[in-house]
Amino acid sequence: MAIESNVDPDLATKSALLHDMGHYEWYRDGKWDYEEYRKHDIHAIKGAERAHKLLIRLGEDRLVAKEVSLAVLLHTDSYLPFSLEAQRTELQEVVRVADEKDEQPSGLHHYKQMDKSEAIQLLHHLDLKVEAVLEKRGELSG
Ligand SMILES: [Fe+2]
Repeated sequence: MAIESNVDPDLATKSALLHDMGHYEWYRDGKWDYEEYRKHDIHAIKGAERAHKLLIRLGEDRLVAKEVSLAVLLHTDSYLPFSLEAQRTELQEVVRVADEKDEQPSGLHHYKQMDKSEAIQLLHHLDLKVEAVLEKRGELSG
């Protein structure tokens, strides 16, 4: 998707992997309370702050950390009193569209189960794809 939209796949991948890291679990009596979630959720705000902090701690370029953090912040407007339609950058739009591709009613996609080894394989495959694009562009050394 990123390449088709002429978006840096490294930024898109980092943004996509981190986009929901601000989630909090809204449970009541052992069950997910979607109404509480809709009313009080600010996961994109928390996620943007956490993503930025994590990337800076890992030594990421500060401009990259800011771009990724903004993509996390704006991947949804469900917590905002206004729409972000037609306001997002290409990167932010790719992350939004990718997020909605996996969406299930009542936020059930947040609880998708996956075998750990399958997840590692998928991440490795994605990593190789991003590296191939960066190598082709001469942006990767060593
Ligand atoms: Fe989200």
